[in-house]
Amino acid sequence: MDPRSEVLLRQAELFQGDLLLAGLPADDLLGQLPQASGWSWHAGEQQALQTRFAGRSQFGTRPPEHAFASAVLFLPKSRELADYLLQALAARLPGRELYLVGEKRGGIERAAKQLAAYGQPRKLDSARHCQLWQVTVDNAPAAPDLHAQARRYELQLSDGLLQVLSLPGVFSHGRLDRGTALLLERLDGLPSGHLLDFGCGAGVLGAVLKRRYPQSRVSLLDVDAFAVESSRLTLAANDLEAEVIAGDGIDAAPSQLAAILSNPPFHSGVHTDYQASEQLLRQAAQHLQPGGELRLVANSFLKYPPLIERHLGPCQTLSEDEGFRIYRAICS
Ligand SMILES: C[S@@+](CC[C@H](N)C(=O)[O-])C[C@H]1O[C@@H](n2cnc3c(N)ncnc32)[C@H](O)[C@@H]1O
Repeated sequence: MDPRSEVLLRQAELFQGDLLLAGLPADDLLGQLPQASGWSWHAGEQQALQTRFAGRSQFGTRPPEHAFASAVLFLPKSRELADYLLQALAARLPGRELYLVGEKRGGIERAAKQLAAYGQPRKLDSARHCQLWQVTVDNAPAAPDLHAQARRYELQLSDGLLQVLSLPGVFSHGRLDRGTALLLERLDGLPSGHLLDFGCGAGVLGAVLKRRYPQSRVSLLDVDAFAVESSRLTLAANDLEAEVIAGDGIDAAPSQLAAILSNPPFHSGVHTDYQASEQLLRQAAQHLQPGGELRLVANSFLKYPPLIERHLGPCQTLSEDEGFRIYRAICS
């Protein structure tokens, strides 16, 4: 059981009536709280919840439509995302209870101050390195307009300007990541066919791929609903069409790909997590056609080449700059 869920269960008598658990972990919490429903923006956790508690959790960037009497937000890593989520929940709970739970090292104490916009926050519990806070929503805000919170920036590329839109909580929100910038310089000579941007974030790589390879089918995949929606906004802002997939890991990717491009993930929540990246390297061959290519950017210190060589084939370093390397391997 996630320690945040354990803290909630210590206070289970507080939660009378329909309770919405926003950003809940994929543990047994829904099993222990039969009156609760879930809202997840993580495709992997949503899939696990759906398998275990069919129909009791919804995936997306906005709270479920159905009515709820109170809500608990599991504090996300990004402060801007927490702002949006708290506002979206508080707007639905005038005069009612909004709770916030999170790990101390995830910044729960600081985040609890964000509750003050809606009423007088109270700390209810502190255990398992987590805290539970509550506010009665005396000052209910208007429902936030998510798209109005997108940050927009322009990239001057060799083939013209690219507009990028990113929503709160999305990787490298409002600016181009250095690693991604280096990969954008090395998108030449890809095999023709179906291209995948794995872990697409705001969709920069996928959008540039579609523009450089207009005849190719392009797919973008991310586990995070806010990234998926950002990618759709970025594609639309540049009049580009591509398929955007919400899915967890390379398992969710199409097969027979001509190339997989990625600035792969290595942080997840407050913990470092290489699982999705290592799985990508292990299983890329199953999603590539013979002669297909994996091309990625990674911090030079990450030990990816041995994994790539073991599971795909010889790993070539195309360039190295500012602590990043661009790797390339062809599927035999
Ligand atoms: C380093 S960021 C790169 C984002 C974007 N491609 C860019 O270059 O700006 C990695 C992305 O992988 C996504 N991600 C993390 N775990 C994932 C998983 N299991 N499956 C798919 N995507 C994942 C994250 O949400 C994040 O958007």
